[in-house]
Amino acid sequence: MKDFSSVLLSWYGSHKRKLPWRDIKDPYQIWISEIILQQTRVAQGYDYFLRFIKRFPNVRTLAAASQDEVLKYWEGLGYYSRARNLHEAAQGMGGVFPSSYQGVIALKGVGEYTAAAICSFAYNMPYAVVDGNVYRVLARVFGVDKPIDSTEGKKYFAALAQQLLDKKRSGDYNQAIMDFGALQCVPVNPVCAQCPFVRRCAAHKTGRVALLPIRRNKTKVSARYFSYIYVRQGSFTWLHKRDKKDIWQGLYEPLLWETKSEIKPASLQKSALWKHIFGNRTPRLLSGPLRHLLSHQILCAYFYEVTVPDHIRVVDGCVRVPQKELQNYAFPRLVQKGLVSVLN
Ligand code: ADE
Repeated sequence: MKDFSSVLLSWYGSHKRKLPWRDIKDPYQIWISEIILQQTRVAQGYDYFLRFIKRFPNVRTLAAASQDEVLKYWEGLGYYSRARNLHEAAQGMGGVFPSSYQGVIALKGVGEYTAAAICSFAYNMPYAVVDGNVYRVLARVFGVDKPIDSTEGKKYFAALAQQLLDKKRSGDYNQAIMDFGALQCVPVNPVCAQCPFVRRCAAHKTGRVALLPIRRNKTKVSARYFSYIYVRQGSFTWLHKRDKKDIWQGLYEPLLWETKSEIKPASLQKSALWKHIFGNRTPRLLSGPLRHLLSHQILCAYFYEVTVPDHIRVVDGCVRVPQKELQNYAFPRLVQKGLVSVLN
């Protein structure tokens, strides 16, 4: 399609969203915004971006911060490896954000999409972005039925995107196709009646709008069962810092028992593990079952509270924390929800 990019750019002229990372050229700030937006909706990422940039306005301030503080600013956003990688990459920059595509894509946590976004927005370099929005728009307008999660499909879409890119206005073009996917050519019930491509959209012509793009494999989701125990010991509690190669690395949580199947509140106190650690003390149910969906896992969690006397030093691998300092620790969203009565 010869004038795809000019139609798109003219649509963008009248539909462009006003966003805090638009119309800035600072590659550091663009980098932060793109990492936040990788797995997060604009509406959710907006305030996080503003708070993050206020506290860490440049590479140096981010590099000088502690990981705990960076994670605190990321608390609730999910995919916490993004924050750990940002921090590590900032520490490796020597105070200056890289100015070449090779330098940008070498940063930890930056893949082809993010490198193209940063280099086109900040430096106007001719790299086309390919994200979920782009797959959807191109698959529909050009009627591409190659699976977007196959090697062949990925290559095909990347080449098509690069060919369509307006190389003089790479930054605007990339923003435009993302906005077009986010506002107009949305996954469900796209606004075809007011679409500038409606007459030539291959999917629209053949009634395949709802069927494109095609995905080969659905991601498998596995279930995990958590019993969290909030220990009260006078004015203190105990927190565990997650350090394994697993979800939520670097974040804090109360004492956790993970089991192969669900332990209902009625059977917790009877379990050997409970008796071994807490004897005859009674757990009090705070909340649950809470279901929490991650990209590849569904978590089912109960939260309990138990009061223990001062002399007990139960909690292996945990830190003893004054309850009034809990707001200084970064918790996963699930823990914030489960402990809402304690944290607020
Ligand atoms: N999603 C990812 N990056 C974006 C950007 N720069 N603007 C709007 N939505 C986005």
